[in-house]
Amino acid sequence: MIKKIVQDALNTQMLREMYSSNLYLAMAAYYHSKNLNGFANWMRVQAQEEMDHALKFFDYVLERGGNVKIGQVDSVPETWDSPLAAFEAALRHEESVTQWINELADLVMKERDHATAILLQWFITEQVEEEATTGEIVERIKLAGESSSGLFMLDNELKARVFVPSAK
Ligand code: FEO
Repeated sequence: MIKKIVQDALNTQMLREMYSSNLYLAMAAYYHSKNLNGFANWMRVQAQEEMDHALKFFDYVLERGGNVKIGQVDSVPETWDSPLAAFEAALRHEESVTQWINELADLVMKERDHATAILLQWFITEQVEEEATTGEIVERIKLAGESSSGLFMLDNELKARVFVPSAK
């Protein structure tokens, strides 16, 4: 049986993953409105990945005999100043998620919950990848600068991303 303090922290993180999913879906709509359909696709896939992360916490809490609590998900912004500003906001958000996952890892270490520590290892590795990928795209948008052909080339590349559910 999972300790209540760990269960509550996992439920909170599950909600943050749902918020992330909504945030990236809003960014997908923003990019769509700018005719950047590759960026929109990338964000839509990212939104699916975030819901996949939320479900990982959902499944885990149930598996450990805990109670899942679906709380209120905060509303997300609707627009950004530029295609670069939206991706920079995504990167800042991922940096916050990394911080929250690290705090969770500290908590389960303190509570000597080794099973949850294994679950969190997956998220720690995932965050390294998410920050790297998002940061790389931010840098590439900066490189494209004012060149609309550079931005459209990147947009074309981002069309290829597809959602792959994580292994359970
Ligand atoms: Fe689930 Fe992008 O953190």
